[in-house]
Order: sequence, then C-alpha cells, then structure tokens
Amino acid sequence: MSSKDKIVIAFDLYGTLLSTESIAKDLATHFGQEQANKIATLWRRYQLEYTWRMNSMTLYKPFSEITSAALKHALAESSVSLSDENISKLMKAYDNLGTFPDVQPGLEAIASDPSIDAYVFSNGSDDMVSASVNQSPSLSAHASVFKSLVTVQEIEVFKPDPTVYHHLCKKAGKSFSNEDMASVWLVSGNPFDIVGARAAGIQAAWVDRGSGHSGNGGWTDQLGTLASGGPTIIVSGVEEAVTGIKKWMAENAGGSGGGNNKEPATMGPG
Ligand code: LAC
Repeated sequence: MSSKDKIVIAFDLYGTLLSTESIAKDLATHFGQEQANKIATLWRRYQLEYTWRMNSMTLYKPFSEITSAALKHALAESSVSLSDENISKLMKAYDNLGTFPDVQPGLEAIASDPSIDAYVFSNGSDDMVSASVNQSPSLSAHASVFKSLVTVQEIEVFKPDPTVYHHLCKKAGKSFSNEDMASVWLVSGNPFDIVGARAAGIQAAWVDRGSGHSGNGGWTDQLGTLASGGPTIIVSGVEEAVTGIKKWMAENAGGSGGGNNKEPATMGPG
C-alpha cells in the first residue's frame, strides 16, 4: 500500500500523547501543590498564547524558548521567582514526561495495522520533540510506530496557521486534493489545534481529556462555528481515536471530504 492510499494519523504531542501533569508535581517541590497547579495552568496558557502572538507578528522562535519565556511570565504573575538553574531543571522535565494510559494500547493497535501511517505532529522544534519522544520512559518504547516526527522547525510558524497542517500533508505524501486531505487526521486534546486542522481542510479527532475525571468534559470551544467546524469525531483517548477514525473512514470514505459542518460523532466504547 503506498503512502497515498493510507490513513494518516498525526498525534499532537504535549497534552495528547504526553501528560504534562508531572510538571505541576515538579513545581510543587518549590511552591506547594495548590500554587503549583495554578502556575502550571498559567504556564501552559502563556506558552500557547505566545505562539499565537508570534504568528500574528509573523515572528518565530523555537518552542523551547517560547516555553521558557512563558514560565517566567507565569512565575512573575504569581509573584514568585525561580533561579535560572531551577528554570532549566523544569524545562528538562519536558524530556521525561509520561504518557496517558490510553496511549500504549492505541499505538500497539497502529503497529499491527498496515493501513495507517502514524506521525508525531508538534509545535516543538526537532531537538525538543525528539528528546520528549525518545527519552520519555513510556513513549520511547513505541517510538518505532511513528513514521517520522513532523515539527514546525522547517516552516517557522506555529499551529493553527494553515501552513502547519499543509506541511503535515506534504510530509505524509498527500496532495491537497479533497480525497487526499480527507484521509489525513489530527488527533489532539487541544481544541485550538482541532479547529485549526478543520479550517485547513483535514480531519480531526478531539481527545476529550476532561471526560471521566471532573465531569466537565465535552466540546465547549465555539470558534469552529465561525470557522470550518469543530472535531470530526470526539473520543476519550488515543485507543478510541484509532478505532473511531477507522470506523469513520469505513463509513465515509469516498464522500465529500468530511462534511465540515457536520456534528461530530462521539465514539462510545465498543
Ligand atoms: C504541540 C502543542 C500544541 O505539541 O501541544 O504542538
């Protein structure tokens, strides 16, 4: 089967395959759990906000520099500080993140399925993404499942600029025809990434990481209604994403290319 005929599944990295929860634990060694949780949330928020602001200014710096600057912002806003040495240690935590429990069975299912080409697809630079994947104790065992690690380093622009999703299509050997793009899937826990993928013309499976924990899960992002729609399907984890994508493709392949404004199908277990 050539690349052109395969289903491409591109996994967002941070917050989708890798859990950043351990970073809050590292922060807690300095500030206590409650404040650490707040700083971790702020850190992530500024990390993403900085990428969007850089895109708007048509500027680019590697994601590691963005991440480090965002941490300093989160600390300053919380009226605390850390030495440069401790900031470096926190940044190193990105090389040692664990996977969510649904990741291993999902990647094992892909390993034994010749109809799927899997990629890691991240805002990170080559070095950062490679270290995160290959040094994570739980993800490195499955690194061979990925055909390659697709990053934004070559194009110097961050998600959700459409260039990023089109770069993925090119790297995966797909053209920009409706038929080809209908077989390219992003799997991400980040709503902004999902809406960006749909606006760029590819399919998107949103991993609802809120479901089953707080009861606050469910798709709440409204920007899709002003753009090209929200997730094609909603799933509770990576394993369900793989089965959900295959099911969706079996039912819809050869159609109009995804039906951008359709309601997302929520995939139940089984
Ligand atoms: C990434 C960020 C968005 O890995 O989580 O691209």
